[in-house]
Amino acid sequence: MYVCICNALTHADVAHATTVHGASRPGEVFHACKCRAKCGTCVSVLRELVQQALDATVTPSATPEPAGDAAAPLPAAA
Ligand code: FES
Repeated sequence: MYVCICNALTHADVAHATTVHGASRPGEVFHACKCRAKCGTCVSVLRELVQQALDATVTPSATPEPAGDAAAPLPAAA
Protein backbone atom coordinates (compact mmCIF):
# COMPACT_ATOMS: atom_id res chain seq x y z
CA MET A 1 0.00 0.00 0.00
CA TYR A 2 1.25 3.45 -0.82
CA VAL A 3 2.29 5.65 2.08
CA CYS A 4 3.57 8.59 0.07
CA ILE A 5 1.62 9.20 -3.09
CA CYS A 6 3.92 11.94 -4.35
CA ASN A 7 6.95 9.63 -4.35
CA ALA A 8 5.14 6.28 -4.73
CA LEU A 9 6.63 5.04 -1.45
CA THR A 10 5.09 1.92 0.02
CA HIS A 11 5.14 0.39 3.50
CA ALA A 12 7.88 -1.91 2.21
CA ASP A 13 9.99 1.07 1.13
CA VAL A 14 9.67 2.59 4.60
CA ALA A 15 10.54 -0.72 6.25
CA HIS A 16 13.58 -1.06 4.00
CA ALA A 17 14.67 2.50 4.77
CA THR A 18 14.45 1.91 8.50
CA THR A 19 15.95 -1.57 8.71
CA VAL A 20 18.60 -1.39 5.99
CA HIS A 21 19.48 2.31 5.97
CA GLY A 22 18.74 3.03 9.63
CA ALA A 23 16.27 5.82 8.89
CA SER A 24 14.75 7.09 12.12
CA ARG A 25 12.92 10.16 10.83
CA PRO A 26 10.74 10.86 7.80
CA GLY A 27 13.47 12.97 6.22
CA GLU A 28 15.86 10.06 6.47
CA VAL A 29 13.28 7.79 4.82
CA PHE A 30 13.06 10.20 1.90
CA HIS A 31 16.84 10.38 1.71
CA ALA A 32 17.18 6.58 1.78
CA CYS A 33 14.59 6.33 -0.99
CA LYS A 34 16.37 9.02 -3.01
CA CYS A 35 13.43 11.40 -3.00
CA ARG A 36 12.15 14.23 -0.86
CA ALA A 37 8.93 15.49 0.69
CA LYS A 38 6.70 17.30 -1.73
CA CYS A 39 3.23 17.96 -0.30
CA GLY A 40 4.09 16.64 3.20
CA THR A 41 0.77 14.86 3.67
CA CYS A 42 2.53 11.57 4.41
CA VAL A 43 4.93 12.84 7.06
CA SER A 44 2.77 11.98 10.08
CA VAL A 45 2.19 8.44 8.76
CA LEU A 46 5.90 8.08 8.00
CA ARG A 47 6.67 9.17 11.54
CA GLU A 48 4.35 6.47 12.93
CA LEU A 49 5.77 3.76 10.65
CA VAL A 50 9.34 4.66 11.55
CA GLN A 51 8.47 4.54 15.25
CA GLN A 52 6.80 1.15 14.83
CA ALA A 53 9.86 -0.15 13.00
CA LEU A 54 12.14 1.16 15.72
CA ASP A 55 9.96 -0.39 18.42
CA ALA A 56 10.02 -3.72 16.56
CA THR A 57 13.80 -3.75 16.39
CA VAL A 58 14.26 -3.47 20.16
CA THR A 59 16.27 -6.49 21.15
CA PRO A 60 14.82 -8.84 23.76
CA SER A 61 17.84 -8.23 26.00
CA ALA A 62 16.78 -4.59 26.26
CA THR A 63 13.51 -5.58 27.92
CA PRO A 64 13.50 -6.02 31.67
CA GLU A 65 13.97 -9.53 32.96
CA PRO A 66 11.15 -11.02 35.01
CA ALA A 67 11.85 -10.94 38.72
CA GLY A 68 12.04 -14.74 38.99
CA ASP A 69 13.60 -16.08 42.20
CA ALA A 70 14.92 -12.68 43.17
CA ALA A 71 11.39 -11.75 44.24
CA ALA A 72 10.84 -14.98 46.21
CA PRO A 73 10.84 -14.63 50.01
CA LEU A 74 14.00 -15.62 51.77
CA PRO A 75 13.92 -18.93 53.69
CA ALA A 76 13.31 -18.60 57.39
CA ALA A 77 16.40 -18.72 59.59
CA ALA A 78 16.85 -21.98 61.53
S1 FES B 1 2.36 12.20 -0.05
FE1 FES B 1 4.41 12.19 0.57
S2 FES B 1 5.20 14.08 -0.05
FE2 FES B 1 3.16 14.07 -0.78
